Amino acid sequence: MALNLNDAIQACWKRIDEGQVATYIPALAKVDPYQLGVCLYDVDSGKKNCAGAANVRFAIESVSKVITLLYAIERLGLAKVEEQVGTRQTGFAFDTILNMEITKETKPLNPFVNSGAILVSSLIEEEDHRSPFDQILDFTREICHDPQVTLNEEIYQSELRTGDMNRSLAYYLKAKETLANDVTTSLETYFKQCSMMVTCESLANLGAVLANDGIAPWSGERLISSDAATYAKSVMMTTGLYNESGTYSVKIGIPTKSGVGGGLVASAPKYGIGIFSPALDPAGNSVAGLALLEMISRELKLDIF
Ligand code: DON
Repeated sequence: MALNLNDAIQACWKRIDEGQVATYIPALAKVDPYQLGVCLYDVDSGKKNCAGAANVRFAIESVSKVITLLYAIERLGLAKVEEQVGTRQTGFAFDTILNMEITKETKPLNPFVNSGAILVSSLIEEEDHRSPFDQILDFTREICHDPQVTLNEEIYQSELRTGDMNRSLAYYLKAKETLANDVTTSLETYFKQCSMMVTCESLANLGAVLANDGIAPWSGERLISSDAATYAKSVMMTTGLYNESGTYSVKIGIPTKSGVGGGLVASAPKYGIGIFSPALDPAGNSVAGLALLEMISRELKLDIF
């Protein structure tokens, strides 16, 4: 591989100053913004190339929406999930309540804005005395090939304390009779899934499963259906970076999902990519992380268009 990831990190480092760590969740406000890490998983060779803060654990936040979506599809089937949540852009911020109200839709516009993500979380039912979150945690450990993914209790408590907009979204969905579980359980699942701690390497593994049509490249085992992998990548391309998805579709051209913890998962043909840098743009996407992904896409010619 011609690209030197340490050089790429150095080149993108100054972009950190253009962003700010998320402050609306107090536990995230304490994170050092001056971090940038990447892990690149080459599905064909099985080699991983990691640099910078690649092994630092951070809160997965909205990247978990991809995992819960995949788990819901595995549990309920794609048709059932598609009945409950759309795949359209909202034109609003990720936590807005306006998108459903203005469009008079009965279902959230996509699974990556908070209304859609809370709905998807509500679709997971308790099974064999295992809570929806316990099932999601196990599935995350499997699809990220990382048994050390755990719940960060401080971040979870912080999400609980400051999550009133999410609470209002859940009650709104309940009022529209679309929430599949009760409000308390649905929100507990959602807040906990956002509070899981991952690394760039965990996200590179997730991206590699998606890149490899649902098969774990490290074992050859199918973890999700081919349809689920294709569906998730399509929605990541169109809404994974919220209102900026179109901008980065042109600049980067790789299905990507961001989280306000500073994580990015990207799935290019033959590559899974995990990136972490906690300083965010106003839409909630990692600034230096996206600059680095743009450089990787250009150097390795990964733009799918
Ligand atoms: O719902 C929230 O506010 C967060 N727990 C997750 C949001 C998030 O990561 C949005 N993505 N960029």
